Amino acid sequence: MKDEIIISEEKLIQWIDSTYKSFKELISYYKCAMMEVETKFNVLNEELSLKYDHNPIEAIKSRIKSPESIINKMKRRNIDNNIKSLEENLFDIAGVRIICSYISDIYMLRDALLKQDDVRLIQEKDYIKNPKPNGYRSLHLIIEIPIFLHDRKKLMKVEVQIRTLSMDFWASLEHKIKYKKNLNENIVEEIRTELLDCANICNQLDERIELIKTKAES
Ligand code: GTP
Ligand code: MG
Repeated sequence: MKDEIIISEEKLIQWIDSTYKSFKELISYYKCAMMEVETKFNVLNEELSLKYDHNPIEAIKSRIKSPESIINKMKRRNIDNNIKSLEENLFDIAGVRIICSYISDIYMLRDALLKQDDVRLIQEKDYIKNPKPNGYRSLHLIIEIPIFLHDRKKLMKVEVQIRTLSMDFWASLEHKIKYKKNLNENIVEEIRTELLDCANICNQLDERIELIKTKAES
């Protein structure tokens, strides 16, 4: 007979309770970090709108990853089942998406953010200069910022995606279509080609808009 490990019900409840508490605590720290990053962008928008006579930011969309998505991603990536490895391996629990009118504003905001002395760049993926094969474009940054708790400072990672209105329009559509079920393989291939074509049209539009902006400013 195999040895059984017997845990008392009381111990089990204590364990679930403490894990749940520290998970909730961690999520609330990510929420604080997300708010800090939103504030940083709101401040930049306020200041730069005076300097350049237009608001560089059209919209800010933020989200905290749902517990279900966190657990799924941990399973997919074989991440150990504890709070420490969650923090060390998942960088997109807090996400802030910045939508701009112009491509040049994306890089201006990036530079202004990364110049701040409490912001540390962990990872940068430029899917504007190097679009994904499906046509996806956006600038992705993983940054680390401090949040100030009542008794200590804690460093938190936040995923920042900066994109134009047309990149956002395309990504939202592609995201919706990607998850459509029961499509026949030929149709899927046709849609893939169509979407890539649309992504290129969106990019041409962004480049033309950028030229108009340059003209209007000269
Ligand atoms: P994830 O496991 O999805 O986080 O991928 P990753 O860690 O390799 O990061 P990546 O920078 O490729 O993508 C992170 C996020 O960017 C995704 O969660 C989406 O929000 C967005 N994204 C990346 N690729 C695509 C895409 O092809 N289409 C759309 N609609 N969004 C994308
Ligand atoms: Mg992600």
